[in-house]
Amino acid sequence: MAALIPFRPAPSPGLRAIPGHRPMSDDKYISIEGIARRYPAPGGGRTTVFEDLWLPMRRGEFVCMIGHSGCGKTTVLNILAGLEAPSEGVVIAAGREITGPSLDRAVIFQGHALLPWRTVLGNVAYAVSSRWRKAGKAEVEERARAAIATVGLAGSEHKRPAELSGGMKQRVGIARALAIAPKMLLMDEPFSALDALTRGTLQDEVRRICLETGQTVFMITHDVDEAIYLADRIVLMTNGPGAQVAEIVENPLPKARDRAALHHAPGYYALRNHLIDFLVTRSRSFKDARPADYDPRHPPVVRPTLSDSDAAAIAASA
Ligand SMILES: Nc1ncnc2c1ncn2[C@@H]1O[C@H](COP(=O)(O)OP(=O)(O)OP(=O)(O)O)[C@@H](O)[C@H]1O
Ligand SMILES: [Mg+2]
Repeated sequence: MAALIPFRPAPSPGLRAIPGHRPMSDDKYISIEGIARRYPAPGGGRTTVFEDLWLPMRRGEFVCMIGHSGCGKTTVLNILAGLEAPSEGVVIAAGREITGPSLDRAVIFQGHALLPWRTVLGNVAYAVSSRWRKAGKAEVEERARAAIATVGLAGSEHKRPAELSGGMKQRVGIARALAIAPKMLLMDEPFSALDALTRGTLQDEVRRICLETGQTVFMITHDVDEAIYLADRIVLMTNGPGAQVAEIVENPLPKARDRAALHHAPGYYALRNHLIDFLVTRSRSFKDARPADYDPRHPPVVRPTLSDSDAAAIAASA
């Protein structure tokens, strides 16, 4: 298996120092602090897509965000990437406010967004040379080839995007993101356009790579099973407009997860039912049935209730 070439610290553009703000701890590696996004409404005034969103993320954790279409997930991801500014609030990374894009935060889009005139190697090498501007051709190629091999595309380096299947293109997008050794991976429904088999294989690869490299990930998905398989925590967004984080669900399943045996894992059905129940009912009703002590700054953290036998099995396997 190919190893990615280790990260060498690089300057961090796209960040602005915040006077008096202390450097991030590992518990707040990147932190969404009270952000809102508003747009001018057609009849005057402003529409609030979401507001008062707070979410600290730990170094090395895999966070998935789930919510119905239009609640603002892509907007949140764009703000994390520095591609869009919030109307209110800030996102803090390395103790500084994010003010623009950075190679520290790589984005994997749903559409792979490859340069069609470049080969697989050319697409990945282009990103590598943007990251390490002083690197020689041989080093750039070595890094690009290592990333391409990591996603299982060794041998396809000289193909152009038009010669690749959808799954292969998405792999190139993942290789391109990983090749620049980002501190954070931002993924917007990266597997949703793929057939079930390819999706499963790529989920396995992303999971393996993230575990091996201790990557911090923020991923949007509509797929409950994908979130259960990949995430450490799952952020549940209410419906928009005026969407909020209803709660943060901690995944009770052990970090060592076997896809084929997932549905036998203790806690699996409690978790799955909780997520589906949220999407079907509570995402809509949350605003009217919000708990009296709801605090958007500290949304409820939920660990779906386990049966006694589930809890005993987890305790035994710990
Ligand atoms: N430039 C804009 N002007 C006005 N409204 C916008 C603009 N960009 C996004 N919106 C609105 O913001 C809301 C959130 O959009 P966003 O793409 O973040 O949603 P989403 O949760 O990612 O949805 P989906 O699941 O369909 O991808 C939508 O209602 C959209 O119409
Ligand atoms: Mg979206």
